[in-house]
Order: sequence, then C-alpha cells, then structure tokens
Amino acid sequence: MSRISYVNGKYCEHNNSYVHIEDRGYQFADGVYELIPFFQDKAFLLDKHLLRLNKNLSEMKIENIYSNDEWRSYINKLTSYYDYTNFYVYIQVSRGAPKHEEEVLRQHHYYNEMEPTIFMYVSEINLLPEDKIRKGFSCVTLDDLRWGMCNIKSISLAYNALAKNYAKEREAFETVFVKKGIITEGSSSNIFIVKDNVFYTPQLNNYVLPGITRGYVIEEIKTLDYQIQEIDISIDMLEKADEAFLTNSTQFLVPISSLNKKIIGSGQAGKYSCELYEKFKKSFNWCYNFFYNNCDCCNWKNNGWKSF
Ligand code: PDD
Repeated sequence: MSRISYVNGKYCEHNNSYVHIEDRGYQFADGVYELIPFFQDKAFLLDKHLLRLNKNLSEMKIENIYSNDEWRSYINKLTSYYDYTNFYVYIQVSRGAPKHEEEVLRQHHYYNEMEPTIFMYVSEINLLPEDKIRKGFSCVTLDDLRWGMCNIKSISLAYNALAKNYAKEREAFETVFVKKGIITEGSSSNIFIVKDNVFYTPQLNNYVLPGITRGYVIEEIKTLDYQIQEIDISIDMLEKADEAFLTNSTQFLVPISSLNKKIIGSGQAGKYSCELYEKFKKSFNWCYNFFYNNCDCCNWKNNGWKSF
C-alpha cells in the first residue's frame, strides 16, 4: 500500500509532500489541526471534529475554504487509498505562505489575502492492548506553562511535546498539567476522575481543549444515569480519587493507575472506566469481551491482543 497524502487539492506520494519554507505554520505555528479517528473503518464523531475545526479556524481568523461536504469528500477519497481498520486522518490548516516578493521576509503580521495551506495524511492507530488497559497507566505532573489559548487546537505544541517527553523519560504514559494547584489536562488528553460514584472533569476554560472524546464521554456518563460535574479539580482530589482516566481521539479512554508514583484508587482500571470502554466498543459492534471476558468471536484473540 503506497502512502498517499493530500496537499492543497492534490493527492501526492507522502514522501514527496511538501509545503513552502515560509509557510506561517512552519515559521510561527500559525495554524490549527484536527485528528479524526476511524475505528473498525468507521469515522468516529466526524461532524464534531469538522465543527471544532471550523470554530478554531474562525478564532484564528483563517478562512475555512471548504464546506463540510467538501471536507467529507476529500477525507473519503484520501481514506480510500488505505485499508487500515483503525486509523486517523490528520488535518492541518495553516495561514499559508506569503506570495508577494518582499525584500524583508518573516513579517509577524499577516496579509488577509493569503491562501491557507491544507494538508491531510492517514496513520494507523495502534490501540493499547486490553490487558494493559486493565492494569492502567502511570502519569506524572508538570507545571502548565503553555500559552493561554489552549482551548484552540493550535499546532503550537512545543510545550506539550516537552511534557510528553518528560513522561517518557520517567517511564510514564502521560504528563498531567497543573496550573496553580488545579489540573488542566494531559499533554495530549483530557482527564476525568470518579469519587464516591460521581464523575468529575475540569471545566472548560482557556487552558482546557474541548476534547471531542471528552464531550462524547460526558454524554455517555449522562446516558448511563451517572452524575458528572465540570469543576476545578485539585491535585489532592486527583490523588484521592477512586478512579481516574484520560480521554483522546486515538485511544478513547486510558485508565490511570498512579500519579507521580502514588497509586490512584485500586491501582488499576476502575469499574466505571471499564464500563465506558466496553460501551464504546459495543457502539462499533466490536468484540466486546473487555468487561465480561467471555467472547472469542473475533480477531482480538487471533491477533494475540487478548492476553487474559
Ligand atoms: N490530541 N487536550 C490536548 C492538549 C490534546 O492534544 C488532545 C488530543 C485532547 C483530547 O482531544 P480529542 O478528544 O478531541 O482528541 C485534549 C490529539 C489526539 C493529538 O494531538 O494527537
């Protein structure tokens, strides 16, 4: 399967896909992105991702030159080159590169007539093995020193990348950001806790990305008739939680087993995390043996992923 990517209206060999060195995305991180997951070959919450893309572009004052129907049709064509089962489409839209011949390059201000640069590519998603999900993952904390517009899905992710590496160096899965003692989000995820059968997640503000998975999980929690509150969550509340988990588009839900080496809850995936994960898989008619461990119908087992 040759890797094809989309660049400004053309479908190109991925290894020959380029943008201009003066592109403002490259020079100023002047752009936004979206990551649309496909599970069992089906787009998950596509319309919500397109809505957020549109909103973010408008907040960055970058024109969205495609209608939702056009986005859908370009995404469909791009994904038709691939036969992955679980994968994502990465979309990046930057303000573009200045066209005019100026003596002085790299002006901070931009020109309104600039044409955005749009590219998309496809990557396979490697889901975390279920036995590891059951065991949960360790997290560390770090001061949230990002810029103050984290509600926008900006490509300015240098601090997030440093933070992810901070976790990696400590053999942890994720770094959870803390601002003045309050949890904001993970370096590439949102966070939830459960205490005394009530779910809590940080309320949305300019330090929290309105994650599409976060929104979906909140709705699922309500559908299951559990209580959920969007409030400030202190480090102390996280440490004393009965369970905690992360959400994002590539992994859906990741239970947290420890924070800065301190055990959270039972030290493994809690019952609510398992229930939500199970419900998510059911919605795709996926083999749903995660919670009940009683199904041998599908390639989860054949792939050797089911090790319990
Ligand atoms: N990131 N917060 C941050 C800082 C993120 O980077 C992400 C996702 C989320 C979760 O958002 P969503 O549920 O819409 O994926 C929250 C993606 C996966 C990434 O950058 O790879």
